[in-house]
Amino acid sequence: MKTALVTGAGRGIGLATAKAFLGAGWRVLALDKDFRPFDATGNVERVQYDLTNIAGIPALVAGLGEIHTLVNNAGVLYCDPYESIPEAHKREILAVNIEAPAALIAALAPQMVARKSGRIVSVGSVAAFTGHPDLWYGITKAGILNLTKSWASQLGRHGVLVNAVAPGPTHTEMYEQLPQSRKDMVSRTVYSGRAARPEEVAASILWLGTAAPEYVNGTTLDCNNGSYPR
Ligand SMILES: NC(=O)c1ccc[n+]([C@@H]2O[C@H](COP(=O)([O-])OP(=O)(O)OC[C@H]3O[C@@H](n4cnc5c(N)ncnc54)[C@H](O)[C@@H]3O)[C@@H](O)[C@H]2O)c1
Repeated sequence: MKTALVTGAGRGIGLATAKAFLGAGWRVLALDKDFRPFDATGNVERVQYDLTNIAGIPALVAGLGEIHTLVNNAGVLYCDPYESIPEAHKREILAVNIEAPAALIAALAPQMVARKSGRIVSVGSVAAFTGHPDLWYGITKAGILNLTKSWASQLGRHGVLVNAVAPGPTHTEMYEQLPQSRKDMVSRTVYSGRAARPEEVAASILWLGTAAPEYVNGTTLDCNNGSYPR
C-alpha cells in the first residue's frame, strides 16, 4: 500500500486532499499543528507538527517511514498592509510557505531517488502570477513555482515527479478571512463566478500525486477557473 504525507491536512484543501487519497486506497499521514476540524477516517494517522520548526524536519521525516507522495499544502496568509507587516508574520509566511516545503522535499528526496519513484505536489497559488497585496504571500507562492522546477530538474532523471497546483479562490478559512472587496474582485474574474470547492483542488493534486504521466514534470497546473487577480 502506498503512503501520502499531506501537510496542512487539518482542514481546507489539505483535509480534502487527505480524503481524496484515502478514497483512492492510499494510507495517509496527515500533518498539521491543529486538528480541531479534522474528520477524516480510515487508514489515516495524524502527525502533529508545527512547520515553522524547519530544523526539526529531517528528524521528523526520518521517523515517518516510506512516503510515496508528498503534498506540500500547508500555507499561511495575513491581510497586512505593506506598510505595517509584522516581522513575526513575515517570518511565519516564509517558514511555512516556502522553507518547510523545501526542507520536506530535501528530506524525502533520498528515499524517493533510492526507489527510483516518488511524487511531490506543492500547492502554489494564482497569487504567484501577479502583483499581490499580501506581499510575502505572493513572493512565497511564486517561489513554489521555481522550487518545483528546480527540484524536478534534479530528481526527474531518478524517476521522481515534482509538480505544483496553483489554485484560485477556494472555499476555506483562508479565503473566508479576505476582505469582501477582494472576494468581490476575484469572483468577477472567475469564469463561473464562484470559488472552488476544496475537493476540486484536491482532485487536481490527487492526479498529479498518483496518476499523471512521467512526462508531466516540473509543471504547475492552474486550477483557477480564469481567476487571475488584477
Ligand atoms: N483558499 C484559497 O483560496 C487558496 C488559493 C490559492 C492557494 N491556496 C493555498 O492552498 C493551501 C491550503 O490553503 P487552505 O485554503 O486550505 O487554508 P486553511 O487556512 O484553511 O488551511 C491551512 C492548514 O495549514 C495548517 N498550517 C498552517 N500553519 C501551519 C504550521 N506552522 N504547521 C503545520 N500546519 C500549519 C493550518 O493549521 C490549516 O489546517 C495553502 O498553501 C494556500 O496558500 C489557497
